[in-house]
Order: sequence, then structure tokens, then C-alpha cells
Amino acid sequence: MPASQADAVWPDAGQAAHGPGGGDAAALRAAMVRELRDQGAIRSEPVAAAFAAVPRHLFTPGESLEVAYGVDNAPIVKRGDNGLTLSSVSAPHLQAIMLEAAEIKPGMRVCEVGSGGYNAALMAELVGESGRVITVDIDPEIVERAGTFLHQAGYDHVHVALADAEQGVPGAAPFDRIIVTAGSWDIPPAWIEQLGDDGRIVVPLRLKGTTRWIAFDRDSSGGLVSRGYGLCVFVPFQGAGSHTEQNITIEDGVVLRLDDEDIEVDRDALRRALHLPRIERWSGAVFDMPDEQMLFLLTNDPNVALLHADQEAVDLDLVARPALKGVPVLISGDSFAYRAARPNDDMSSGFESGVYAHGPSAEDLAVRYVELLRQWADKYHRRGAASIQYIPKPATPPALSAGVLAKRHGTVVVTWP
Ligand SMILES: C[S@@+](CC[C@H](N)C(=O)[O-])C[C@H]1O[C@@H](n2cnc3c(N)ncnc32)[C@H](O)[C@@H]1O
Repeated sequence: MPASQADAVWPDAGQAAHGPGGGDAAALRAAMVRELRDQGAIRSEPVAAAFAAVPRHLFTPGESLEVAYGVDNAPIVKRGDNGLTLSSVSAPHLQAIMLEAAEIKPGMRVCEVGSGGYNAALMAELVGESGRVITVDIDPEIVERAGTFLHQAGYDHVHVALADAEQGVPGAAPFDRIIVTAGSWDIPPAWIEQLGDDGRIVVPLRLKGTTRWIAFDRDSSGGLVSRGYGLCVFVPFQGAGSHTEQNITIEDGVVLRLDDEDIEVDRDALRRALHLPRIERWSGAVFDMPDEQMLFLLTNDPNVALLHADQEAVDLDLVARPALKGVPVLISGDSFAYRAARPNDDMSSGFESGVYAHGPSAEDLAVRYVELLRQWADKYHRRGAASIQYIPKPATPPALSAGVLAKRHGTVVVTWP
């Protein structure tokens, strides 16, 4: 922990960290570190030491110590008028995974996009006295909050800036690491320009309506290539780089979500299909790792989007339960098919994948879908099987196909080697 000159100015800071309840906080912090290690989220000693050092509860005022130190808790800081969360203190579990992927070393210059204070303090521990951390947020309230908490916790050397990070922070570049903590639809050119030669960007990137944190290194052609990724959920990136997905309501509570794709949707035909009896077909292949399987389905047929349904639509049996959390749906004109799962003791996970299909071409779509499910189970039934590349404009991207996602400033290419 850095010595806190701030205590003279902010007398409450010392009390909050070490006064009544401080002992509990220390015990809960130690328990959090143990749990993060047990889960495999913390894998290295420097990251463990950073989590052990920073008093997270100072960055979550108003929350109980138990909430502050819960590994999966992301206390909400600010909501928009529509109730959507605009800012939160990210969950320790996800912060640990992304910091491990970032491999931040002493002496590095690090830029955090999206502030809260806590994650920046962890980074400050990792870069040590010879390094630099700047955290940037688009929201003046969040910047003020983060600055105050960092000050109270004794991390005055972390620089907090107010800006739309779409432009990066040119005055503080180049960076060895850029860690983005809001869900971005694209990678702004400024981030790549402001990244040092051996730099790495860890960014929650939206791919066809779902978000993966991706650790990207530079490749030899000026683009980026992934060295790891995983499922995550983040508040949306605001400002110039924001992107709104297309929601197409098929029926009350049943929505198609199109984010990158350019699929022709005949809403009336799909509504008619929804009210026809559905068929189900089973693959004989394992259902496991839904996030990995989902990425495969979304990036191996250009006509796959996400189908979402609310509880009422499921209770009415319009659609089956998988749609509650969003499920890959294959669309073709007047028909659609989406993923199913059922218990099967012959499968290593105890579950078999399958498909529900509606509409005049239900049988054909089910056959295509089952083929994809078998392909994933045969060849890619593991974590991290995909390789993800980002090709910034003006480089020529590969021809558009299932895993080639056209973004505003470049192209994401998801391949399954
Ligand atoms: C999940 S919160 C950040 C949590 C924080 N890193 C922590 O310590 O836990 C995401 C933040 O991203 C910010 N944000 C969204 N769009 C942004 C943009 N274009 N530029 C800078 N910050 C942005 C939001 O205001 C929000 O505070």
C-alpha cells in the first residue's frame, strides 16, 4: 500500500481502511484473494498481491463489506434514464481474469478506459513506482468519484482524466497496455495508434450481440491478433464509438437481436412460423461450454443472430427456455431454428445438444444447425479454440463470410483453426 499523505486532507480515509470494520475488511479481502485463486481467476503472484493490497471497500461506499468483497459482485454506480447501467465497479472475478491476460509488468505505462478507481489502483500496484497509470472516463461524475476514492486510498499518483476515450489519451501515449472496461463494438484507430510496439489491448468487444474480453497483441501487418478471450458482460461504451444493435420484435416478448449482421428478416413470415408447431432434432453431440459453442455458431453461418425471449413468452410455450438468456438462431426467409439441450448420460457433460425449428423449411434448417453442433463438438469442444484478428482500415479485409464482421474502423475476423 502506498503511504497515504492524503490522510491529512481526508481524515476519514484512514478510519475507513483501518478503523472499526477494517479488520473485517482485511479478512474479507484475504478470503476474496483465496477464492479468486481457487477459481483460477488469479494465476500469478503480482495479481494476487495487488488484490491483497487495495482496499476495495473504499471504492464501493454505501455497500456492505460482504458486497464489496464478493468475487462476482459489480455494484452499480450509475443508471441512465432508461434504467440501463452506465457505470459499475466491475466484479473482482472479471478484473482478475483481464489483469492476468494483460500481464502488466513493473514500469509499464497503462491506460484504463472506463473509471471507478479500484481497477486503476490494482494496476498502480502492478506497475509499481516506476510505472504510470491513467484512467479515463466520459462521465464527469465518475471521474470525480474515482479521483476522490483514489485519493482516499492513497493512490494519488494515478491520473484520472475526463474524455471520450474514442480518441484515446494522445498526451499520455504511447501505452504498453490499454485495458478497456466498457463494452465496445469496435476498436477506435486511436487505441492502436497509441499502443507501443509490444503493446497489448484487453478489450470487451461485442461480436454479434455477445461480448468477449479479448487480449490483443499487435501483429506484423499493423493489426491485432488475439492471445486469449472469454465471455463477459460490461456496461456499454458511450460517446462517438457507441453502437446500437437492431432489435426486431417477432411477437410480444420474442426479439431477434442483430448487431453486426446484415440478415434480411421477414418479420411477418417469422411470426407465422413461430405459431406453427415446432420440431425438435437431436445431434448426438455434447452440449457443453455454452459460451464457446455460441461463439462458434454465431461465426460459422452468416444467417445466425441471437433470439431473446422473456419469461412470459416461455411460459406461453411460444419459445423454449434457452431463449431466456439469448440463443443463436439460424434464420432463412420464413423459418428459423435455435439451439436446444437435454440431459443425456452418454455425454461427458451430461447434456446433448439439439435444435428447435419452426416454419415451412424447419426440417432443412434443423439439419444445417445439427451439422454445426456436431462440428463444434467434434473439433472445437474446448476453451479458447477460436482465433480473433482485427484488421484496421484501410487494409483490405477478407471477403465477407460468416466469421468476418465488418465494423466502422476495420474488420474482425474470427477463425476456427
Ligand atoms: C464498468 S465501468 C468501469 C469500472 C472501473 N474500471 C472499475 O474500476 O471497476 C465502465 C465505465 O466506462 C465509462 N465509459 C463508457 N463509454 C466511455 C467512453 N467513450 N470513454 C470513456 N469512458 C467511457 C462509463 O462512464 C463507466 O464509468
